Amino acid sequence: MVSVKELLNQTVHFIQQKIQFPAHTGVILGSGLGAFAGKLRDARSMNTSEIPNWPESTVPGHEGRFITGFLGDVPVIVLQGRVHYYEGYTMAQVTFPVRVLGSLGVRYLIITNAAGALNPEFRPGEFMVISDHINCMGTSPLIGYDDPDAPTRFPDMSAPYTPELIDLALTVAAKLKIRVHQGVLAVTTGPNYETAAEVRMLRILGGDAVCMSTVPEVIVAVQSELKVLGISCITNMATGLSSRPLSHEEVKHTADQIQKPFASLVSGVIQRIGDRR
Ligand code: HPA
Repeated sequence: MVSVKELLNQTVHFIQQKIQFPAHTGVILGSGLGAFAGKLRDARSMNTSEIPNWPESTVPGHEGRFITGFLGDVPVIVLQGRVHYYEGYTMAQVTFPVRVLGSLGVRYLIITNAAGALNPEFRPGEFMVISDHINCMGTSPLIGYDDPDAPTRFPDMSAPYTPELIDLALTVAAKLKIRVHQGVLAVTTGPNYETAAEVRMLRILGGDAVCMSTVPEVIVAVQSELKVLGISCITNMATGLSSRPLSHEEVKHTADQIQKPFASLVSGVIQRIGDRR
């Protein structure tokens, strides 16, 4: 069997042949949050279907694009569209793009998603800067990954979301007058939404929002020694916290509505990261 490392080498080699780019910050855009990519200067884009070994999304609204460009003077790689565990991909495939970003030289990763609110104080259309997470997927993306060159097989998870980046995001949001919360992200495999009883359980466990992505990528980013900022867009109240049944359309619709402040928040954060370089 070909190892993840060999696949990674092929993919990184292919991308480096196509573009010479001094990658610094990576951004992974969640459901319907693609508009941020429009903020990049000198943007160059390729479909991820052109890239060898890249997992292709099967979800509408997750168009796969690999985009390079600049925000201020910060070189940024944006991944528009991701694949999910619930699509039937392995954890190694789900997290492969994060390993590619790390190998291309990315040191800061901003990872975003659509999420349902577990915290009754939150409202659809607001943002949550992720302070920590609870993995309820029942597996880890590091299982079976035994690259002797990896910094560690047993990453410390005491601060997976970089405290300085959390502070920076809160400061930028306050400046832009964008309402953000800070909280704990719980993750389930999906693709079904949670039952009301599961939502009560996740709340009791300490979750503020719930999604079906992000956490595996963050675990790999931590193993790869990237500094991580996670931002959830609250697209709906989780099951049982509103009287309406949940639908993917509602999630996409809310994500669509908040694309503008979201893009301003993320680009503001990247420019501040740039100031610290
Ligand atoms: N649950 C899980 N994932 C989600 C939700 C939700 O309510 N909303 C958006 N992604």
